[in-house]
Amino acid sequence: MGKITFPMPDDFHVHLREGRILESVIAATCGQFARSLVMPNTTAPIATADDAMRYEAAIRAVLPTDGKDFQPLLSIKLTDRTTPAIIRDATGRARVLAAKLYPAGVTTNSSDGVQDITSLYSVFEEMQRVDMVLSIHGELPGAFCLDREDAFLPTLERIATAFPSLRIVLEHITSKRAVEAIRSLRVGVVATITVHHLVLTLDDVVGDLIQPHHFCKPIPKTPADRAALVDAATSGDCRFFLGTDSAPHKNRNKAGDYGAAGVFSAPVALPLLVQCFEQYDQLDRIEAFCSRYGRGFYGLDATSRLITLRREKWTVPKSFGGLTPFWAGKDLSWQIADPPESFIKSWTRG
Ligand code: DOR
Ligand code: ZN
Repeated sequence: MGKITFPMPDDFHVHLREGRILESVIAATCGQFARSLVMPNTTAPIATADDAMRYEAAIRAVLPTDGKDFQPLLSIKLTDRTTPAIIRDATGRARVLAAKLYPAGVTTNSSDGVQDITSLYSVFEEMQRVDMVLSIHGELPGAFCLDREDAFLPTLERIATAFPSLRIVLEHITSKRAVEAIRSLRVGVVATITVHHLVLTLDDVVGDLIQPHHFCKPIPKTPADRAALVDAATSGDCRFFLGTDSAPHKNRNKAGDYGAAGVFSAPVALPLLVQCFEQYDQLDRIEAFCSRYGRGFYGLDATSRLITLRREKWTVPKSFGGLTPFWAGKDLSWQIADPPESFIKSWTRG
């Protein structure tokens, strides 16, 4: 098979940032995805309807002419200041689809995250009532770094039980126990899986020389954990769908005295996903994983847009919009057929 065509996917978890970085990365996302749920952990957080509407306008303002069909889907960040009224306003006025829970300190720009999750119970109650999705960065602060996700699972279970019709997404899962938890919890509790966690283990981060462009939260784990993720993504189970968690950082913030967590995967997201599903002989499952289950969960219409990838080996360039993309310098066996001009141009810029 030299080509594969499927409905243009949606990315249900992406960090587009703001300003110069937003301008640099947008072509990667609007060139491959019909819609993307944009994460609210910008430097000044997206925490209200007004913030979300301003952010949507900022994203639309930088869409290239060949990317105007792209639709940003909005989220807000839960903080200790979020109220039920903010939820009502966000869902009503700004059509915000999800509110994101970052336990304080677990990742980039989360120092204003939530200290005491039970203090948000009235907010969860309102989200349940208006049917806004609770999106969770599921790591327990303070636990040993490789155990943080598993240590959060009891909290997930408590929230799912206390709010029986609240729709919940456990984002970017990385462990076998998280996969098992999603399979065992009630209907309406699902998980996103990134492309990078389908291909990396901890060895690819620190097994040899430190690889700052592979460092992300949650940290990639063991081969057995990765195998469980691959199994979940390719199993035809609608509780697992794509959210790339593409998280660009300036190169100088990735390496140096400190390195920021985040894999800038958007530029290679679909070619690498196709390569991965093919490697496991599951290509017939890719459409459901990236184009069907997520939009089903979020209640969005199918898109009439299609995307085609063709089998042709290429080496991923060292820069996309001046930032180092995931897989830079390595080969891929698939590429986007007829990519938009803005996508092609970004590879050579910077
Ligand atoms: O590695 C990560 N980077 N994980 C996250 O959860 C956030 C993201 C970011 O915003 O940089
Ligand atoms: Zn993220």
